[in-house]
Amino acid sequence: MNPDLMIETRGLSKTFVLHQQHGARLAVLDGVDLAVARGECVALVGPSGTGKSTLLRCLYGNYLASGGEVRVRGDAGWTVLGEAAAREVLLLRRDTIGYVSQFLHVIPRVPALDIVAAPLRDRGVADGEARERAAVLLRALSLPERLWRLPPATFSGGEQQRVNIARGLIAEHPILLLDEPTASLDAANAERVAQLIDAARQRGAAIVGIFHDVAIRDRVASRCFSLTRATETAP
Ligand SMILES: Nc1ncnc2c1ncn2[C@@H]1O[C@H](COP(=O)(O)OP(=O)(O)O)[C@@H](O)[C@H]1O
Ligand SMILES: [Mg+2]
Repeated sequence: MNPDLMIETRGLSKTFVLHQQHGARLAVLDGVDLAVARGECVALVGPSGTGKSTLLRCLYGNYLASGGEVRVRGDAGWTVLGEAAAREVLLLRRDTIGYVSQFLHVIPRVPALDIVAAPLRDRGVADGEARERAAVLLRALSLPERLWRLPPATFSGGEQQRVNIARGLIAEHPILLLDEPTASLDAANAERVAQLIDAARQRGAAIVGIFHDVAIRDRVASRCFSLTRATETAP
């Protein structure tokens, strides 16, 4: 086994049961074997609806596997997500797995700077230091400083997305899951995100991402994982 392996699925299947549709079953993932090591950035590719976001949610433990398993390497060794207690999954999310969802879940009245700093505070980093590191990231993503003290509810899509990315990257998790992190960004801001992804890889993060934009995908991915055929192809 690859000693640098950080996260893997073994025969992962996910079937949704649609209770509103008389229990109709929707088989989305079927026997997915994905293994991602330190320093890799694996891009999930496939047409819309093939289960890319579903796979990321399974890797984060948001969705439970219908078959097979998701294995994550944390500080204390390997955990099978489906067998872990809720508290264990929360600790893995605090310390090991970072997830940048497609859209920011805005918390009313909380300023952007504090939203970004929160994952560090959760890990016991002092307020001042957490805010300083949040400021460094927001500056790197060129979010105008006048916005830092405001809640992001009224921000533009691209501004919210940059807050979301900063929040997802600040704790420097060993595993990063990115769902279309550059979808609402212009070319210059997408490039800034690409540079942060490169930096995360260089510090040894294992990254799984969905990148709608092919140029960005080619720019950041070390390889592609195709969901239509569940085989690997060159980026
Ligand atoms: N919570 C859910 N309940 C029912 N169906 C879902 C759920 N999440 C995703 N799906 C379905 O799974 C399929 C794959 O969705 P998704 O993973 O979002 O695709 P992609 O990210 O590749 O575009 C879609 O048909 C979608 O409707
Ligand atoms: Mg998706």
